[in-house]
Amino acid sequence: MRTQVAIVGGGPAGLLLSHLLHRQGVESVVLESRDRAYVERRQRAGMLEQGTTDVLRGSGAGARLDREGLVHHGIELRFGGAGHRIPITDLTGRTVTVYAQTEIVKDLVALRLADGGDVRFEAEVLAVDPSGGTVAFRQDGVTRELRADYIAGCDGFHGVCRAAVPDVRTFTRDYPFAWLGVLADVAPSTDELIYAHHERGFALHSLRSPSVSRLYLQVAPDADLADWSDQRIWDELATRFGTPGGWKLKPGPITDRSVTPMRSFVAEPMRHDRLFLAGDAAHIVPPTGAKGLNLAVSDVTVLARALTERYASGTSALLDAYSATCLRRVWRAEHFSYWMTTLLHADPGADDFDRRLQRSHLEYVAGSTAAATSLAENYAGLPLE
Ligand code: FAD
Ligand code: DHB
Repeated sequence: MRTQVAIVGGGPAGLLLSHLLHRQGVESVVLESRDRAYVERRQRAGMLEQGTTDVLRGSGAGARLDREGLVHHGIELRFGGAGHRIPITDLTGRTVTVYAQTEIVKDLVALRLADGGDVRFEAEVLAVDPSGGTVAFRQDGVTRELRADYIAGCDGFHGVCRAAVPDVRTFTRDYPFAWLGVLADVAPSTDELIYAHHERGFALHSLRSPSVSRLYLQVAPDADLADWSDQRIWDELATRFGTPGGWKLKPGPITDRSVTPMRSFVAEPMRHDRLFLAGDAAHIVPPTGAKGLNLAVSDVTVLARALTERYASGTSALLDAYSATCLRRVWRAEHFSYWMTTLLHADPGADDFDRRLQRSHLEYVAGSTAAATSLAENYAGLPLE
């Protein structure tokens, strides 16, 4: 079997890359270890930068996003029992959109299949050879080989591609907390996202639709879901979002729950020979800044452009610049995600001095237009290079 670009992983990065390449006449095969229902149901991100929605729309993948995406113009920071709005659009001229990762994946799978794309589910990649351009994978119990000009490692943090980059240098930060995320069949209690700092820990109120809420709670890194009954989750959320005013959190049936560890991670370089890493395969951010999916989209946008140039004109300048181009944006997002995480979480190792500094920082961001603008331009996303 042979193709131009072998894509390992059918998450948002791999699927979007395959779609963008198809639009430019470049052929690819996507190999995804899980089944279609699993990748379409995996609950994760929800907040898209304007640059991300521009890429989806500009490539013809934005029809349902335009109908169902919820355009937002601000977020609320809540601490000390009071809310402080950060007016993202007023400060940056940009908007952000709530549209779940599950829906992006469904849209891209449907588009690829409608366009005759070769997307193989339950096809697990066992090994890649960055110099030979070969990918060994197992499908229906049979091990096969896919040969390609280039290999895109879009196989997430636990994939096999990163290990094929020799002398890869990694940078890591683990945080002493995790997120418990829930999806609930209840109308959101807010129009805009609420990022709450409370002495008991961080909480985030997001949403999926006028009738579905998405909420997150800071928990211990070893938290066991069995210890978190629905009642305990709603009580803890109500406490952390609590204000002396009349605001009330509406509880409802919880339909999905999971615990996610919090980690910062970067692998450098993002390329070796014919292999290019993109998305979570190359970097992880703690979710507080809502950057992971957006970075996956910006990586594959840069990669699609570079591969298109290579096939159209034979020059590889953009491919050669790929790792450095992506890493500049990655490190900005790493810093912002770390900054939002330390601003808003309750660090179990903090002392009173740390807590006073954190409170002062929150008040500065809420009260200074200069500080709020810095948050807003990073949150809405800096323009693609
Ligand atoms: P993945 O989605 O991990 O996809 C990789 C794919 O590769 C998977 O389908 C996997 O099955 C497949 N695979 C792995 N190994 C193999 C193999 N050997 N062979 C074949 N296939 C393989 N980001 C945001 O931008 N905004 C947010 O609001 C946000 N919120 C988040 C909230 C939570 C709770 C979490 C957990 C994450 C959040 N993120 C957010 C991050 C975002 O979900 C990820 O960054 C995004 O999924 C990365 O996409 P990806 O395609 O690179 O990787
Ligand atoms: C969502 C997740 C995030 O991590 C975030 O910062 C904002 C929104 C979400 O899932 O909706």
